[in-house]
Amino acid sequence: SAIAAAIRTLPKAELHLHIEGTLEPALALELAARNGVELPWTNVDDLAKQYEFEDLQSFLNLYYQLMAVLKTEDDFRDLMLANLRHAAEDGVRHAEIFFDPQVHMKNGTAFETVLNGLKEGARIGRERYGVTVGLIMSVVRDESVASADELIDVAAPYANDILGIGLDSAEVGFPPHLFEDVYRKAKELGWHRVAHAGEEGPVGYIEEALDLLHVERIDHGTHAADSPAMMERLAAEGIGLTSCPLSNLRLNVVDKPSDLPILEFMNNDMAVTINSDDPAYFGGYIAANYDILVTGLGLKLDDLARLAGNSLAVSFITEEERAALF
Ligand code: ADE
Ligand code: ZN
Repeated sequence: SAIAAAIRTLPKAELHLHIEGTLEPALALELAARNGVELPWTNVDDLAKQYEFEDLQSFLNLYYQLMAVLKTEDDFRDLMLANLRHAAEDGVRHAEIFFDPQVHMKNGTAFETVLNGLKEGARIGRERYGVTVGLIMSVVRDESVASADELIDVAAPYANDILGIGLDSAEVGFPPHLFEDVYRKAKELGWHRVAHAGEEGPVGYIEEALDLLHVERIDHGTHAADSPAMMERLAAEGIGLTSCPLSNLRLNVVDKPSDLPILEFMNNDMAVTINSDDPAYFGGYIAANYDILVTGLGLKLDDLARLAGNSLAVSFITEEERAALF
């Protein structure tokens, strides 16, 4: 349709994407064979049947299992490049991309291997597709705080290669306040700060992320819709929200598209943005996440242009980068 084509030409930033969540089933099987990693599935059809999720944890189980096939610098480079090709096709000019080093390190892959591969993919992707990339190192919150502390120590020598710190994985039972010291160190290293909050967790987790982790954006933040006071605060403080519609639907954070709180957030003047989270798992890259707002919520092109504008406004792109891009 005309609107689908227009969506793909809107200049936008992708602010909530896990690079490991771009691992398509066919590539997972190819890398498993190449790297000698055993998976319970040997063909794409069998693997594809595993993509029915009940909740966040049921998704994370498959996501972590498939992450074990990523081993070499080339694997991470190729994953980043494949993702940036999709991004460019969907009108993404700038991407701030999560990676989960604790999981790779547990799988026996060195931090440097992961970082170097992603950086190389980003460098080639910028040349090839004109998309700028920042890397957000994500702390896996269902690992110990000691493990998060060790990660900061391992990453500190590469502080300049990292744009920010994030907090992801199983949310309920792992509240933001556990990571107050970790985020203090991250700030000292000069990193931006974001955290997943209010995806499955309550609005109180959003409050902790703001008050104790001093985050500049909230990832998901879907449950902010439960609290008019929180919506008002997020608007007043100009805190960006990185909503992921297809993710919220596939993980049953909301029951149906009309329950997505996007319009409500926009009507409350919140800096809400549209993102893809784990596109290989949730049925579409970023433009498909804009599409569902048209088909499921009745948004118009000027609404989508506003959402795309928000994404550039709450990105961590510097003024020089902005000038070079536009
Ligand atoms: N890791 C990858 N995707 C995630 C999500 N949607 N929530 C929490 N952790 C994640
Ligand atoms: Zn996420």
